[in-house]
Amino acid sequence: MMLVWTVSVMLLSCWRADASTGPKITSEPIVVNNQTSAVLSCNLTDPLPVKGSHWIYNGKVIEDSVSTDSNPYTILRLEKITHTNAGKYECVFQTEPVSKQTIEVKTLPHVAAYKHSEHGNEKDKGVMVCVSHGYPLPTDWNWFKEEEGNHAPIINNTGLKFEIKNTPNKTILTINDLNIQDDIGNYICSGTNEIGSNSDKIYLRVRSRLAALWPFLGIVAEVIVLVTIIFIYERRRKPDEVNDDDDSGSAPLKSNSTTNHKDKNVRQRN
Ligand SMILES: *[C@@H]1O[C@H](CO)[C@@H](O)[C@H](O)[C@H]1NC(C)=O
Ligand SMILES: *[C@@H]1O[C@H](CO)[C@@H](O)[C@H](O)[C@H]1NC(C)=O
Ligand SMILES: *[C@@H]1O[C@H](CO)[C@@H](O)[C@H](O)[C@H]1NC(C)=O
Ligand SMILES: *[C@@H]1O[C@H](CO)[C@@H](O)[C@H](O)[C@H]1NC(C)=O
Repeated sequence: MMLVWTVSVMLLSCWRADASTGPKITSEPIVVNNQTSAVLSCNLTDPLPVKGSHWIYNGKVIEDSVSTDSNPYTILRLEKITHTNAGKYECVFQTEPVSKQTIEVKTLPHVAAYKHSEHGNEKDKGVMVCVSHGYPLPTDWNWFKEEEGNHAPIINNTGLKFEIKNTPNKTILTINDLNIQDDIGNYICSGTNEIGSNSDKIYLRVRSRLAALWPFLGIVAEVIVLVTIIFIYERRRKPDEVNDDDDSGSAPLKSNSTTNHKDKNVRQRN
């Protein structure tokens, strides 16, 4: 009986040694889900000499947590958990070899519109973007249009009206062939991770093609007015100039030219 017990304990410890890479740490909790605060703790259960310990957040050492004492136990207090400090935490004991344990702190995804107001021109396209921060990033993105208090889902159909492109930290909704009647309004982007969903809202304005043309039409109108003024001015001046020519210059000029011709003819004959 004693032998069986000893063998099973040995087998169990062998299996444990295989499963974890370094000396064993028990951490409490292993995952923090949707909490506003937490105390992370690690307890080195292997009787090894400890030269110090520290915590790592998203790959960077937390300076305040660096300790040089031989305590095989360390805690990290997170007073206020938000998307800005969610992520992967690691406790590290300076042992031979180094002992580490990861604790994940998860929150709802933080979702924010890139711009809360967007606009597009009629018949053109409208583009709306939402981004996400935090841990974990959304695994799903959804878009809705607000219609009389309801949220109408928008379906991705590339090449037609709506196109949706997603990455974990970004979603892009493109609306083609904008229409003033149907497309103006509030659009909602919603990001979902394993904890839950968060969303943000974007107001889309659609300008009529005429409105887009106004500055251009203004310039055209200005040019037309200017040209008309110049034209009228020129027409008023012209009759005077023509009269001047008739009164003085034209008759003698004609005789001059004929005399010149005669001279030339004479010279050629010579
Ligand atoms: C650390 O783990 C050991 C063994 O499981 C236990 O006896 C001890 O109370 C723990 N220490 C703390 C501070 O939890
Ligand atoms: C939408 O459809 C296009 C092509 O059909 C595809 O590339 C894209 O990944 C789709 N987006 C989503 C969110 O499914
Ligand atoms: C979004 O994710 C990509 C790759 O996953 C990364 O290169 C980029 O920096 C991220 N952007 C932001 C704003 O986090
Ligand atoms: C997460 O916490 C928020 C507020 O603290 C709460 O509204 C939400 O229901 C919680 N979600 C889950 C999945 O527990």
